[in-house]
Parts: sequence; C-alpha cells; structure tokens
Amino acid sequence: MSTRRTLLQGAAAAVLPGLLLARGATAAARPADFAAAAAKDPLLTPLFGVSDATGDRDAEARLLGRWPAELRGRFYRNGPALYERAGQRYHHWFDGDGMVQQYRIGEGHVVHRGRLVRTAKLAQERAAGRFVVNTLGTAFPGQPPASGPDSFNTANTNAIEHAGRVLALWEGGSAYAMRPEDLATTGPVTWRGDLAQMPFSAHPKLDAQGHLWNIGAAGRKLVVWHIDPAGALAGVQLTDSPFPGGMVHDMAVTARHLVVPLPPLKLDFLSPIEGSRRRFGMTAGEPLRVLVMDKNDVAKQRVFELPPQMVFHVGNAHETADGEIVLSFVGAPDASFLDEGAVAMMAGRPGAGSRSHAFLARLNMASGQARLERLPGSDGGVEFPRIHPARVGLAARHLVFGASWIDGPGREHALFHGLQLLDVETGRVRRFDYGAHQIVEEHVFVPKPGGRGELDAWLLGTTFDARRQATVLNLLDAARIEDGPVAQAVLPYGLPLGFHGNFTAA
Ligand SMILES: [Fe+2]
Repeated sequence: MSTRRTLLQGAAAAVLPGLLLARGATAAARPADFAAAAAKDPLLTPLFGVSDATGDRDAEARLLGRWPAELRGRFYRNGPALYERAGQRYHHWFDGDGMVQQYRIGEGHVVHRGRLVRTAKLAQERAAGRFVVNTLGTAFPGQPPASGPDSFNTANTNAIEHAGRVLALWEGGSAYAMRPEDLATTGPVTWRGDLAQMPFSAHPKLDAQGHLWNIGAAGRKLVVWHIDPAGALAGVQLTDSPFPGGMVHDMAVTARHLVVPLPPLKLDFLSPIEGSRRRFGMTAGEPLRVLVMDKNDVAKQRVFELPPQMVFHVGNAHETADGEIVLSFVGAPDASFLDEGAVAMMAGRPGAGSRSHAFLARLNMASGQARLERLPGSDGGVEFPRIHPARVGLAARHLVFGASWIDGPGREHALFHGLQLLDVETGRVRRFDYGAHQIVEEHVFVPKPGGRGELDAWLLGTTFDARRQATVLNLLDAARIEDGPVAQAVLPYGLPLGFHGNFTAA
C-alpha cells in the first residue's frame, strides 16, 4: 500500500473525532412558535417545510409566456426541506433533511418531481418517529456520538447530474446518488473502498471538459477529489489545512489551480451550546485565508491572507498571463447569517444577518501578495453567484446573484427579491426586481444551443410567489435581464426554499 493511501486512511479516521457531537442538550424549537409567526407573513410559508408523509411531490407545471423549443433538459435544486417531527422543530435552516427538486423541461411541458433524499439519517428517524440525530444547529438530549459523517448527513445543499447520476451533496460527508429518471436514492457514493464517508463537499466545480473537482475537510486535512467525465475517481490527494477545523464550503478551479477560501470560522461541534442550539462565530484576529493549490500536486501551494470576513460562495477564478489568480466571491463582515439569520428563519423572523457584497481578489502567485477590491452592486446583500458554465476556470465577465435592494416597510426580512447581473469588466450592474411578494432563489446560466458569448444564454431559477403561494420556475434572457422572465412554470404548490442546483441539457 502506498504512503499516500495510508495517509488517506488516516485522514478518514481523523474525520471522526472532529464530529463527536455534544450531549446533555435540552430540547429543539417548537413548531407552534414558528406557525404563529408564519401566520402573519405569507412569504414565510416555505419555511414550514414538508412533512415526511407528504414530502415527495410530482406535478405538471402551468406554463406562462414562451418556453423556447430548443431549451430541453433537467434542472435540479436541493435544500433543507423537512424541519419538524413529533412536535420538534430544528433551530437552524441548514439542519433540514435534503429534498432534490427536478424540473424536466421540453416538448411543451415542465414536469416537477421532488424527492427527499433517502439518507441513513432519514431512515433512522423515520423508524424512530422523531428526530434522534444531532445536526449542525440542533442537539438532542442523550444522543451518542456520531458513528461517522454520514450518520448525520442530510444531503441537503446542492444537486448536480454527472455521468448519468444525480449527486445530492452536503458539506461534511458522502455524496448521495439518485437516479435521474425517477430520483430514487441509490445510496452514498464511495469513490474508493478505503475512502468511505470522506467528505465530498457541496460545491464541486464542473469544467467545460466534464471533469468534476471537489474538496472536503477531514479533521486537520483537506481532501482534493478529481472525478473524470465518466464518473470514475481520477485522483484523490490530501494536504494539511492551513486553518484546521475551519469551515470549507466552496472552492474555485482554474486551468492549473484549486482556489479555496478558508473563512476564520470553526465548526466546533463540542462547544458552545445554548440550550439545544449550537453557536458559530468567527475566530477573532484570524484573516480570511485563500489557499491556492496546484491541481496535480496539492503540496505545491500558497496561502494568501485577506481582511477577516465570512465567505460562503465563490463566483469564479482564473489565471492571468502575468501570474495572478483572480477570484470573485461573496463576503460578509461576520458570520451572523450562520449564527443568527439561519436560526431566525426557522423561528419565523428572518431579518438578521449582516449584508454581503461581491469582491474580487487578485492573488499574485509570485509575490504572495493579495489585493482586494469591492465590486459594484447592491448594498442590500447578494449571494448565490453563478457564471456561464463554459467559463468555469477561465475569465468570466458576467456574474449573476440573488440580491436585495428594497428596504423598509413590506420588506423587513433579509431574503432576496431580485436578480443582479454584474459586468466585472465595466462595473455595470443590471437588475430585475421580482417584487416584494417574492423570494428569489439561485438562478443559473443555461447556454443557448449554438450560443456565442456569455450573455447568449438564459437565466433559469425559482422564486416563491407569496401571492400565488406557489413555487415558480423562471426563464430570463441573460442579455435582457431587466425585462424579467420570458417564460414561467407555476407549480400547484410551494416548495421549501433551496440552496443550489444545476442544469443538464437533454
Ligand atoms: Fe453553498
């Protein structure tokens, strides 16, 4: 056995001590408290989530506008969906069991199918009839330590179809595979026998050649995954983390490098706890680190330091001819969304969380110096940055975000009501406002068949429309974002709010 393989096995074992979950907590939140709050605000209906009895959904959507005949494929989204069992409600939005939504688009129809991911956790709690597994934000009394990352894997963060299967992704454990034809869960993906349960995070990057690159945080180590276009493991590497135990949520890939923001926040499951609620704060005095690694040899690396801030998501990264790596990302001054905002949502008062902004970091690989520039755009918060899929790892001129810019009466909470398209070259910002009665989720670029250029594309994404009390799939022309949707597909029900998703052309 090679040294590298032994190291990887050691890292797999090292995942476990970091995941020993606390005991002695009191109780989860109460569903009735949320219901009382939600009764006053029709925008909050999605935060009831789904019950286990009615969790799966199937329907043909009602079509509005003109769906282009040449748009054919499957759009996936994932997010926490099941928040309550047996009189207990999770404290934290990120805790809910994952539900993958699939929209089949083509031949004059949009057909929706939503399936809870059949994780080991879901099966265990179905059998118990109540929550029994400690999650990211909620601890239950008297639970034994976790047996491994997948024992509390909710598979609730992202969904991408790759090499004939849908991967339901979560930050801290295995990907769960589902069948594209019916969204049946086939089980956790073990890329190699000795790497079972090694974290395969929720934000892999798919390059234009079909290679999937990903990372995972395993104790004091970082794992780097390379999956080939056929869905086989092409490589796995291991390196020490420059910020061990820190949250590692998203990453970017360039032609030669992997670029990983490491915000100064540790997901320490041993402390602290308030009642049954975990607390997460940034570590004072620590910078935002950006780890740059050579794709082919992750031991070749540089760590850049930027002013302290919280980062969930990157837009993109690329290399310049003069040896810089340019990284776009969304940063926030603190971790208040993770610690307060996502908790307030579950309680029916989603107003907390510091406002986030888009940034560009220029990382000089020769000098090790970094320059940070705040990009133009909304002062009311942005998130969910996406680019044209053909530009992953190359210079991308246009970024789309969910965004807020309305303040005041009628819009007291922090959820997004609009889309913002940023031209990084000119600084021009263009917007579409769905209105204060809608919650805007992530929108993705879908290239037009035969299209040339980044804006020769559609933007595809969902909103929750509080007037209709329904989830709506929206299609916009990226070159004319201000005009709003050219076509919509209205579901006969509302879905829980999701995080991320991806489109696969048919
Ligand atoms: Fe994310």
